Amino acid sequence: MKALVLAGGAGTRLRPLSYSMPKQLIPIANKPVLQHIVESIRDLGVTEIGIVVGSGNTDLADAMGDGSRYGVAFTWIVQERPLGLAHAVRVAGPYLGDSDFMMYLGDNMLPDGVADMAADFATARPAAQLVVSRVPDPRAFGVAELNDAGRVVRLTEKPEQPRSDLALTGVYFFTPAIHRAVENVTPSARGELEITDAIQLLIDDGHTVRAGRYRGYWKDTGRAEDVLDCNRHLLRSLRSRLAGHIGDGCEISGAVVIEEGARVLRSRITGPVVIGAGTVVEDSHIGPGTCVAADCTLRGVELSDSIVLDGATLSGVSGLYGSVIGRHASVTSGESPERHRLLVGDHTRIEVAA
Ligand code: G1P
Repeated sequence: MKALVLAGGAGTRLRPLSYSMPKQLIPIANKPVLQHIVESIRDLGVTEIGIVVGSGNTDLADAMGDGSRYGVAFTWIVQERPLGLAHAVRVAGPYLGDSDFMMYLGDNMLPDGVADMAADFATARPAAQLVVSRVPDPRAFGVAELNDAGRVVRLTEKPEQPRSDLALTGVYFFTPAIHRAVENVTPSARGELEITDAIQLLIDDGHTVRAGRYRGYWKDTGRAEDVLDCNRHLLRSLRSRLAGHIGDGCEISGAVVIEEGARVLRSRITGPVVIGAGTVVEDSHIGPGTCVAADCTLRGVELSDSIVLDGATLSGVSGLYGSVIGRHASVTSGESPERHRLLVGDHTRIEVAA
């Protein structure tokens, strides 16, 4: 079996971060989303992974390499235009050949793994095996309707009135039967070739499509809130590792990782917290749910439930929470105690204490 990871898509809901980096590189628990996905595919024993990227996107390949450092082999596949998930499968057709494959949308996190669905697929080999999850409001997702025997009888993409509460999670298993279906789909109302429509064609043609229910934590990390939620979730299973320098007068509690080369001085760290390599934290309180990436400087900061990306500087700011701070961004206290001064990029979101 091969795997296909779809990492095209503009990531508009993650602006401004996605202006300067592919959303799949945003770190969750200090590891890029794409790395989490690759490792979970590898843990299923699948080592040939095709990654579909938009044209001109070399950042992902630059960051992730050829896969050898994760024990897998990547093939980078360029989708010239973002014409939908079924289109991406078309583009990947020559790579996939006549192999069975699992498809993973590159912004979906299913940290509890899909080993049981993979095993079911390998045993029964239906034309498609979908991974579905029960959600309170499935209107933002593809929705599956199942019959009593657990076969999928109908799929609807983002229905206004869902007929079930089973959402498609963004992980699918396919036999090569999908290739004919993706050739035959026509553009949806949003102008894309939908994988949901291609799978419906399989059903209409009499193929067996099954669904396995995933009961663990699932997040489509499309928005900053989702990224933070997922970060919080993954940090719950963090194990302490104190490799960096911890100066006198520090108070460390809970699960805390301080990477090698990080320096923490006169600060209180209340885990779960990760402090990245080369980062300096001084006179600060870093609270639960926080990941600070590499080479950041935090001085006189009170920060919790947040993600700080590489090279950022925070100084003299208290009460920071629920924040995502981009690479080399700087958040500092200014000369005036009453007024705020901002240099804000496009589509940035700032909430200040009024
Ligand atoms: C896609 C699929 C949808 C699925 C979702 C999971 O939607 O089309 O069926 O439920 O991913 O994240 P999109 O993220 O492209 O809107």
